[in-house]
Amino acid sequence: MSETSLSSRTSLAFVGCGYVADFYALTLRHHPDLLLEGAFDIDGDRLDSFTRAYDVRAYDSLDELLSDENVSIVVNLTTPQSHFEVSRSALLSGKHVYSEKPLSTNFSESLQLAEIAAEQGLHLSAAPCTVLGEVAQTVWKELRKEYIGPVRLVFAEMNDGLVHQLGVEDWRSCSGAPWPYRNEFITGCTNEHAGYWLTWLVAFFGPAIEVSSFATNIVEDPIDSLSAGELAPDFSVACIRFRSGVVARITCSIVASRNRELRIFGDNAELVVPDAWDFGAKASIRNRPEKSHDQSRYLPIPLLKPPPEKPSEMVNNIDFCRGIAELSESIAELRPCRLSSDFAVHVDELCHLITSSRKGGSKQQLTSTCEPMVPMDWAK
Ligand SMILES: NC(=O)c1ccc[n+]([C@@H]2O[C@H](COP(=O)([O-])OP(=O)(O)OC[C@H]3O[C@@H](n4cnc5c(N)ncnc54)[C@H](O)[C@@H]3O)[C@@H](O)[C@H]2O)c1
Repeated sequence: MSETSLSSRTSLAFVGCGYVADFYALTLRHHPDLLLEGAFDIDGDRLDSFTRAYDVRAYDSLDELLSDENVSIVVNLTTPQSHFEVSRSALLSGKHVYSEKPLSTNFSESLQLAEIAAEQGLHLSAAPCTVLGEVAQTVWKELRKEYIGPVRLVFAEMNDGLVHQLGVEDWRSCSGAPWPYRNEFITGCTNEHAGYWLTWLVAFFGPAIEVSSFATNIVEDPIDSLSAGELAPDFSVACIRFRSGVVARITCSIVASRNRELRIFGDNAELVVPDAWDFGAKASIRNRPEKSHDQSRYLPIPLLKPPPEKPSEMVNNIDFCRGIAELSESIAELRPCRLSSDFAVHVDELCHLITSSRKGGSKQQLTSTCEPMVPMDWAK
């Protein structure tokens, strides 16, 4: 072992050894302070494949994992339907929790989790963690310089193409987990993906106060084994007003061609991030044509620091363990976690409100809020 001694490392255990667990295991290499003690999955084959692939302990049960005194943080990588029960059990066993999104399949359960964490004096933190990445922090610092002028409007895209036509039945993670396409269609692209941009927007512009949204199903029969009633919306569009006055339009779909771009409109110029799923994305500033005759002016924004090298097994350049590292450091430093439980609950509420607008969209007020996030030390 290099300079990091065993005793200074934070021990984790993964619950859920499916498709995404590989991305966590692969990006652990960027965080020598984190130690994966072991994992548990109710699917014995998945548990076996995963724990063999990464040479970690296979717990026989969730109870055995939660009784392991070495484990400080439980990383909940189960299906969304199991998030609430697993996170709840972990918190009641005295473990900090880092959960994949959504926190739960309904907002009242997400609130319950936050209450239990507060009662227990524990952290509840959640993915996505891309707001802690190099491009997000670089862009945020650029916004604080106010070079692009006051920001009034943001357009955020999260479209993934016609996913059901991409042979999803054959997608496998590097340790062999099938992509859980049925569940992805049940949970829906908004609950799965809106958070990638919403976390940035709440960090940059403060909590949201109201959202007007529309969500529907456009492709009627994408997967043979799912009935219409089981499908979450495959398209949503929401306009969100933030407390700072900024308005954002976010579009999520698995219908429109792939586009994961963010455009932030300042009075002087536009700031563009081409891809939410790339910690090294090349953000740039473009003149507003109406403000300048030099319409070609395009200023690349250099990253404050390069992101760690993407493991070759991964397609998207996301350091999935960055959020767990932040949680671990906040515990050690006795400070609030940047991905706090309030922050996670607030983003979760936004996703649930947008998805539920299928039942009849209207303007809805947020009931939750959160404290402002602090930039990463290297990005202040
Ligand atoms: N698939 C992706 O590309 C992706 C990317 C980012 C985030 N996510 C999120 O990660 C989470 C997991 O997604 P996934 O794609 O890995 O799903 P998955 O279905 O491949 O894996 C989930 C695993 O959890 C296990 N599980 C379910 N309930 C359990 C329980 N009570 N106790 C122990 N194990 C249990 C299942 O057996 C399964 O192996 C979801 O919340 C999803 O939104 C997925």
